[in-house]
Parts: sequence; C-alpha cells; structure tokens
Amino acid sequence: MDSFLGKLGVTTLTLASPVVFLCISLTLLLLWPLESAFAQSVFSPTQNPVAGSRVFGLKGCTRCHAVNGVGGQVGPDLGRIPGPRSFYALAAAMWNHFPRMAAKMSELGIFHPYLNPRETGDLIAFLHTLNYFDPPGNLEIGQRLFAKKKCIVCHQLGGTGGVMGPNLDFLKQYGSPIFVAAAMWNHGPAMAEAMRVRGITRPTFKGSELIDLIAYLKSASPHPADEPLHLLPGQAEEGRRLFEVKRCRVCHSVGGKGGTVGPDLAERGLRRSLTEFAAAMWNKTPAMIQAMEARGISVPQLRPEEMADIVAYLYSVGYFAEPGDSRQGEKVVAGKGCLNCHSVAGKGGKAAPDLARVQDLGSPAAVISALWNHALFMEKLAKARGIAWPQFRPQEMADLVAYLQALGDRR
Ligand code: HEC
Ligand code: HEC
Ligand code: HEC
Ligand code: HEC
Repeated sequence: MDSFLGKLGVTTLTLASPVVFLCISLTLLLLWPLESAFAQSVFSPTQNPVAGSRVFGLKGCTRCHAVNGVGGQVGPDLGRIPGPRSFYALAAAMWNHFPRMAAKMSELGIFHPYLNPRETGDLIAFLHTLNYFDPPGNLEIGQRLFAKKKCIVCHQLGGTGGVMGPNLDFLKQYGSPIFVAAAMWNHGPAMAEAMRVRGITRPTFKGSELIDLIAYLKSASPHPADEPLHLLPGQAEEGRRLFEVKRCRVCHSVGGKGGTVGPDLAERGLRRSLTEFAAAMWNKTPAMIQAMEARGISVPQLRPEEMADIVAYLYSVGYFAEPGDSRQGEKVVAGKGCLNCHSVAGKGGKAAPDLARVQDLGSPAAVISALWNHALFMEKLAKARGIAWPQFRPQEMADLVAYLQALGDRR
C-alpha cells in the first residue's frame, strides 16, 4: 500500500496503526445515492482510495500504467492525465479506451482483470485522488524561488538568510506541504505587515511554485530527516463541518450553496490539489482579510489537519458531478447500439442477455464493474459483427448507469 501512495507524497503516519489510517482515508471519498446526489450531502464512506491503490497493483494495472513516473509505460501515466476527474469521467475513460487496452493485454499475455463492485469503487476512488496529491516538487527550482520570492530576506534556513521572521528549519520536522501552507495562512497577516514595512511586494505563487518551494524548505534544513514526510488525506465529512464553523460559507458557496462574496470553491476549475489550493488561498489572503474585516469576521486560524479536511471536502464535492437521468439513459442505450445485441424487456437483439434481467446492479460501482467484466466478450462480438466500440461522455455514462439501475428496480 505504501509504494504508490508514497510516490504521491502520501505516507502512512505510523503503519503500526493501519486501522486508524484506513478510517481516515475511508471518509476521503464518498458515495451517496444517485437519487439524492446534490439534493443533500449524505456521505457514506463506501469507496476507499487506499484500498483502491492496492487493487491497482494487484490487478496488474501497474504493468502498463505509471503513476507520476513510477510503473509501466505501455499505457498513459494516470497521475498525469488532466484532472480532477469525476467518478463517471473515469469510468467512461476506462470504457472508451478499452479496445486498445484489451489489444495490449492480449499482446502481452495479460489476463483481463476481473473487478468486483467493491474493487471497482475503490479503484476509481484511487484514480480520482491522483490529482489531489501533488507530485514531488523540484528542489533546485524551490531554492531559486526562496530567493526570488524574497523569503530569504527575512527567514533563516539551513544557516543563511534574514532574521526578521522566524527560522524555518523547524518546518522540516513537520514538513508536509499542508503544514507549511497552514503556517503561512495563519501568519499571513503579520507577514504581510512585515513586508509592507520593508517595502517588499507580497509574493504570489503560480502553478507548481509553492510545491517546489516547500520541497526546498524540507530539504534545506540542517539534519536530513530519516522520517518520511507526513501527509494524511483529509476527512471530507469533517471538512464540511469546518467549512461552516470557520465561516468560510459566509462568503463562499460550494456547488451553489453559500455566500457569493468570494468564488464558488467547488466549481470544476477551482478544484485543485492540496498545494494548489493552499497557493490560491495564500494569493488571495489580502483580499480575503479585507472582506473579513469589512464584515467583522475575525481571520480564522487553521491547523494543518483542518486545512486538509477542508480541501478533502471541496475535492469530494465534484466526485459525482454528473447525476444520472434514467430517461436520458434509455436514449443512450438506443443511440449507442446496445440493442444490436441486447434486448430490454424482450425488445431488441438476441445475442446478449436482456438488460432488464441483469442482477446485482445495486450501486453505480456495481454497474461499472458489470460493464468492465463483460467488456472483453462484448468487444470480440462487436468486432465480429462490425459494430464500432461506442464512446461515452461522462454524462452519458451517468445516464446509462441510472437507466440500468432503474431497469433493475422495475423487476
Ligand atoms: C496491457 C496493458 C494495460 C493494462 C493491464 C491496463 N491498461 Fe489501462 N490503458 C492501456 C492503454 C494502452 C491505454 C490507452 C488506450 C488508448 O489510447 O485508447 C489505457 C488507457 C487507460 C485509461 C484512460 C486514460 C485516459 O487517457 O483517459 C484508464 C483510466 C485506464 N487505462 C485504467 C486502467 C486500469 C484501472 C487498469 C487495471 C484494472 C488498466 N488500465 C490496465 C493499457 C493497459
Ligand atoms: C518581510 C519579511 C518576510 C518575508 C519576505 C517573508 N516572511 Fe515569512 N514571516 C515573516 C514574519 C515576521 C513571520 C512571523 C509572523 C507571525 O509572528 O505571525 C513569518 C512567518 C512565516 C511562517 C510561519 C512560521 C511559523 O512559526 O509557523 C512561514 C512558514 C513563513 N513565514 C514562510 C515564508 C515564505 C515561504 C516566504 C517567501 C514566500 C516568506 N515567509 C517571506 C516575515 C517574512
Ligand atoms: C468575508 C468573506 C470571506 C470569508 C469568510 C472567507 N473568504 Fe475566501 N475569499 C474571499 C474573497 C473575496 C476571495 C477572492 C479574492 C480575490 O479574488 O481577489 C476569496 C478567495 C479564496 C480562495 C482563492 C480562490 C481562488 O480560486 O482564487 C480560497 C482557496 C479561499 N478563499 C478559501 C477560503 C476558506 C477555506 C475560508 C474559510 C477558512 C474562506 N476562504 C473564508 C472571501 C472570504
Ligand atoms: C456486440 C454485441 C454487444 C453490444 C453492442 C453490447 N453488448 Fe453488452 N454484452 C454482450 C454480451 C455477449 C454480454 C454477455 C457477456 C458475458 O456473459 O461475458 C454482454 C453483457 C453485458 C452486461 C452484463 C450483463 C450481466 O449479466 O452481468 C451489461 C450490463 C451490458 N452488456 C451492457 C451493455 C451496454 C450498456 C451496451 C451499449 C453501450 C452493450 N452492452 C453493448 C454483447 C454486447
């Protein structure tokens, strides 16, 4: 379990307490019933990205796919595909790319991996979190940034630098990006004041700059740490609570619910990795403080775990971004040529089982798992009959799933 998450910058705090770790991660991603998607945020921790990372290894995905550079090179690096991607976007990607994957599998003598519903859910949760964790930063770039952003004017690090701000060597000890980000947020107002006094323009961070800077902060301290860096995935449920308690919702909405003073933090384009989120928050700190002062809201202090929880909450909101519509799904089934082979309640093709009689489609993950497990057979038959492999957009996949589940309910 360590290898993949380790590469992503996630490390288990103490493996002596794997149960605690699992419990924390369990709540990272959530599954709520399709009917109530968005209507209410009823979270139930049924998909586990940590377990998914194991499925990813056990089912041989690593033989062809790397994650941030580590693993096979046959297929695309799944840590580098643009994201974040929702459950249905990932399910559609696996489906759409299936024929080429299957061709590679037979070429390399790899057996088509069977995935049960639980494994499917966990696996997709894992793929979803790949963008949530940052790839490791670049030390040399970070070192240059420490000077370029003028941190060195005020801070000592590994024996050099100014003394107006605290020595930053201690960060090593806690060294996770989220810890540094939280420290920078909490000390933001005082730092801004120190910068104003010295006539230093307050720096902002683009792209991966903060990630690189943090990589340098961690490495430059005098004693190389033998410990891995600690970064726990946050708990989405707790993050949702904190979002209220810290009064973020007074000014920010999430998926349309909340204030409009600041931007909606869960809109597609705004969902980011932990450090990208921290950088956005840092960049907007002066404007935010101003908005808070105008409303008599005191600037909330955030412990690192609290910041991680809030990010996990915001990140999880888009996971089921496309609630399915079973009536649209009926059109998808007709339009994608499923009825060439399948019937529905007796009408349609005879080459494949009646879709109204498929068993065990109790969750979206179960439907995706049924599709995945039969894909190889379907693909061979489609080829033999000259039927093109149907491609799905994420919304179509969501609608299809809603329809197949509704068919099951009618039974
Ligand atoms: C035999 C090699 C092989 C194996 C094993 C394999 N894949 Fe793939 N995969 C590929 C190839 C090749 C592509 C690109 C296909 C294409 O370009 O259409 C791909 C594409 C994908 C994509 C789409 C990426 C994108 O760009 O959107 C996803 C997601 C994916 N694979 C997930 C998985 C998962 C999960 C597993 C394990 C259950 C797995 N793959 C096992 C070879 C493989
Ligand atoms: C003009 C001087 C100045 C500059 C430039 C400056 N800082 Fe600071 N920094 C301070 C001061 C003063 C504090 C302490 C604020 C307080 O007491 O709340 C501080 C606090 C911090 C802390 C919190 C330390 C703790 O005790 O938890 C971090 C982390 C930090 N700075 C990082 C940076 C980084 C990274 C940069 C460059 C992007 C930077 N600072 C640039 C003056 C500066
Ligand atoms: C009093 C209103 C207010 C409160 C309370 C508030 N914010 Fe903000 N926030 C803003 C404003 C205004 C901006 C946009 C500033 C700008 O665009 O210049 C912003 C921007 C942000 C951004 C950057 C968004 C982006 O994509 O650029 C993040 C992240 C953020 N806030 C997080 C939070 C969190 C987390 C909390 C709760 C701890 C919070 N905010 C509380 C007003 C607020
Ligand atoms: C070329 C013929 C063909 C086409 C087109 C086709 N299927 Fe299938 N499908 C099959 C066959 C054959 C099976 C049974 C395979 C097996 O038992 O392994 C199957 C199995 C399934 C199953 C699993 C049934 C079970 O009992 O678990 C589902 C769900 C399914 N297909 C959905 C679809 C959907 C949705 C489409 C349209 C996007 C589609 N199929 C298009 C041939 C096809």
